[in-house]
Amino acid sequence: MKKKITKIGVLTSGGDSPGMNAAIRAVVRTGIYHGLEVYGIMRGYTGMVENEIVKLENRSVANIIQRGGTMLKTSRCYEFLTPEGRAKAYENLKKHGIEGLVIIGGDGSFKGAQIFSNEYDIPCVGLPGTIDKDIAGTDFTIGFDTAVNTAVEAIDKIRDTADAHDRLFIVEVMGRDAGYIALHSGISTGAEHILIPEKKTKVADLIASFQEKEKRKKLVNIIVIAEGDDFGGADELAKLLKKEIPQLDLRVCILGHIQRGGAPSCFDRVIASRMGYHAVECLLEERFNVFIGIVNNKICYTPINEAVKKKQRISDEWMKIVKILAT
Ligand code: F6P
Repeated sequence: MKKKITKIGVLTSGGDSPGMNAAIRAVVRTGIYHGLEVYGIMRGYTGMVENEIVKLENRSVANIIQRGGTMLKTSRCYEFLTPEGRAKAYENLKKHGIEGLVIIGGDGSFKGAQIFSNEYDIPCVGLPGTIDKDIAGTDFTIGFDTAVNTAVEAIDKIRDTADAHDRLFIVEVMGRDAGYIALHSGISTGAEHILIPEKKTKVADLIASFQEKEKRKKLVNIIVIAEGDDFGGADELAKLLKKEIPQLDLRVCILGHIQRGGAPSCFDRVIASRMGYHAVECLLEERFNVFIGIVNNKICYTPINEAVKKKQRISDEWMKIVKILAT
């Protein structure tokens, strides 16, 4: 009979996202509930390579559910991308007797998990922790809701001043490869234009639309642009608009990393807790090398191999809604 897992490790990797602490807490407490020893691996895969591994108890994760960031810290580990780095990581896990891993991170972190679990006999379970929501196989990722609400709060404030001065604001939100933060924050703040990496930005149409707005004296406008938009970020767009329509009174605001920090929303705390609980259940039930998602409010499992291949898609209907509502 196969030996049951008795020791597991948990780590957070890549860009941090609000709710990661809630997920760590759920993994630790569910693991201990089932009689497992749970180890925290510091600074993502770096802690595996450099043997920074600490035993966690129920009390180690007290008073963290409401905190942004991650108590285990995080990093992007280039040594783990090499076979030598992964061999070191494996040796260090063996030293501690760790037999299964919970990896909380985005698609880059899942790629690391995929390669590692294919090479070594350490099963992995992934939890989608990224503000970008760019992982197919789940309706939500841990941190997206908080990040998008941070952006909404900021854009609402920007609209006040835009309105006072009759100005156009270009607000850049995060999303190197994904436009979900831009799309959701833009729709919910009534942005006149939303520019995202998934859809080609038609610059000529944008200029024409502002020339037309100028004529009918619609001067208060918000453009929400994702940092990874195909045209470029807010600064490039501002330069172009200023060149084409010099009379535009225009300002740029780049929201940046404030979107990654702060107390997680209730929604993020709840999904992180559910997903963390199910990650441990997965390891115990030998449902290995999957990541946990929530689809239609139900927990679901996607093989990590598939998760790293697929991206979320943004349908044209979203863009139609933006256009109709922002007249
Ligand atoms: O967490 C994802 C993300 O927010 C991307 O949208 C962004 O481009 C990236 O992180 C920036 O991360 P960092 O500044 O940590 O390299």
